[in-house]
Amino acid sequence: MRILITAGPTREYIDDVRFLSNASSGQMGYSIAAAALRGGHQVELVTGPVEIAPPAGCTLHRIETTEELRERCLQLFPQCDGVIATAAVCDYRPQQRIAGKITKTGQPVLLELTETSDVLAELGSMRGHRWVVGFALESQDPRNNAMRKLKMKNCSCIVLNDTSAIGSTENTVEVLSPDAETIAFFRGPKPEVAERLMVLIETAIAIRSDSSD
Ligand code: CTP
Repeated sequence: MRILITAGPTREYIDDVRFLSNASSGQMGYSIAAAALRGGHQVELVTGPVEIAPPAGCTLHRIETTEELRERCLQLFPQCDGVIATAAVCDYRPQQRIAGKITKTGQPVLLELTETSDVLAELGSMRGHRWVVGFALESQDPRNNAMRKLKMKNCSCIVLNDTSAIGSTENTVEVLSPDAETIAFFRGPKPEVAERLMVLIETAIAIRSDSSD
């Protein structure tokens, strides 16, 4: 299969040197990319800025902002069999990016923020026969929130994890189906969780998507 994977954080610039972002390390997405490559798949890895090296053999697309992530994904998705969206997307951006560097005035500064595009929702709306695996990072009412996202983004399944996953080398995930069934529960180092997720996608998710054509 040809698989689109999003990974890492996005950045939204306040001025030319300051930005809003989050502490995503990219490890989950990069581990899934490595597992997919080991499984003989082609990987299009669209990644925000991270400290780790991409797995050898993937096609790498570096992005910074949510809009860049969106544009690259919209371009690649039609040629892919499915998408795994692990990116920790920055949901808000400053209303405007100031050119240069804002100078301190000694006074409080108010930032007006607007929502960025929901990239996965857009991919879900154009998925056709493709499969769509979303991630849901939840701190409260996790199952209900994850199911709401699965439906809103038209996912084949959603991988629920909590905020302790951000920046950690380990992860605990529950995979939910569109019927709100728990189809898998994995816990361990991210490379191990990634390997098991990839097997689940190959043996259950991608096959189900094929047969619904
Ligand atoms: N996602 C996306 N574009 C966004 C926000 C999220 O593609 N603007 C994707 C993420 O990569 C993930 C899924 O949607 O696969 C859910 O992301 P999450 O951060 O858990 O939820 P949000 O939709 O951002 O909602 P909230 O922040 O309110 O929990």
